[in-house]
Amino acid sequence: MKASTPNDTMWDRVWLGAHLATMTGGAAYNTPGSGEELDELRDAALAVKDGRIAWLGSRQELDGMQWSAREITRAQGLWITPGLVECHTHLVYGGDRSNEFAARLRGATYEEISRAGGGIVATMKATRAATEDELLEQSLPRARALAAEGVTTLEIKSGYGLDLANELKMLRVAQRIGEVTGLSVVKTFLGAHALPPEFAGRQEDYVRHICDEMLPAVASAELADAVDVFCERIAFTQEQTRRIFARAAELGLPLRLHADQLSDGNGGEIAADCGALSADHLEHTSEQSLQRMAERGVVAGLLPGAFYYLRETKLPPIERLRQLNIPMAISTDCNPGTSPIASLLMAMNMACVMFRLTAAETLRGVTVNAARALGLSKDRGTLQVGSRADLAIWRLRHPEQLCAEVGVHRPVEIVLGSGSRSV
Ligand code: NIG
Ligand code: FE
Repeated sequence: MKASTPNDTMWDRVWLGAHLATMTGGAAYNTPGSGEELDELRDAALAVKDGRIAWLGSRQELDGMQWSAREITRAQGLWITPGLVECHTHLVYGGDRSNEFAARLRGATYEEISRAGGGIVATMKATRAATEDELLEQSLPRARALAAEGVTTLEIKSGYGLDLANELKMLRVAQRIGEVTGLSVVKTFLGAHALPPEFAGRQEDYVRHICDEMLPAVASAELADAVDVFCERIAFTQEQTRRIFARAAELGLPLRLHADQLSDGNGGEIAADCGALSADHLEHTSEQSLQRMAERGVVAGLLPGAFYYLRETKLPPIERLRQLNIPMAISTDCNPGTSPIASLLMAMNMACVMFRLTAAETLRGVTVNAARALGLSKDRGTLQVGSRADLAIWRLRHPEQLCAEVGVHRPVEIVLGSGSRSV
């Protein structure tokens, strides 16, 4: 590693003797078995200045340099990973759906509950009824739970307002979560999540309303960093998805998609055709869609929490994703209906146990590949000079323990850009 700064530079802080999981594996997204998957630097040092990583390398190399730092932390035996990137959540919502949990335990399916007026529309009612402050108060504990586990970048979708005022309210709450917690929050507009009751029987009108009114308003309020659609037989059709994506692209907004979760709806292919950053879920994705995703570099967002909670049996096509070298990201999908799980570490364990990802694939899935799913790979998800100093610092023998052992590990310190937070 090279010094990017003159030798007399004063760093803000340096960690000495830590092991680094840099995750800088170049173009090899999925590399099970190579032994180099975390791109480890043992007995290393890492320095930050002005909220960015200013230098990293071996202790030995550092000994040969002239440097100084305002704060020096002896970090022998600690591991530094990039701050974790949570790339798919619906964690801003009102109320809860524990009653549906009970119904499902008695045998009802998610689709049956949804068609009977429960599901997303039930949460919509509670979300509309909450004031902005109430929504913030209800949602903050979920964001804080993720943050306590080392998450430093957090994607949050709207999609429980389903009218302009309430979608904007949700996006403002997402923004405030970033301000209150210091997390980097990425806001995604998901107006096309479900049909609101006032448009019952008029789905085409709602899609027109999204394209003509909601998308331009959300874009001009600068409250969305991306646009998502739930493309599914209980939600929006393939043709409607393409239309909404075309309008979003005109407005310069990046795209991501809920694709092929409950049935094959050509979601992967639509995501690829439209230039989406990621296609998420993918349990029912076809070979043709996978080929297109590989060609276009679409990230596969894997959501084992929803798979678990819905007691799905059809696995996403993990082996094909590996063969096609499609980057795999892992996320909680934290939402009130299909994955009320605000633990990325739990989702990581599930990815290993249920999807049989390796620990290395899973760790890449919550760092480098998740950053890519958010279009942020330039300065998140890896430890390299110039990246944001978003760090999670752990007392571990090896980071694979984060996947193997549940409920045990919390970072000993989290660094968010220039601010440090002990946990
Ligand atoms: O990602 N699939 C659509 N959206 C969520 C579920 C939302 C809900 O049920 O409230 C998901 O699984
Ligand atoms: Fe989702």
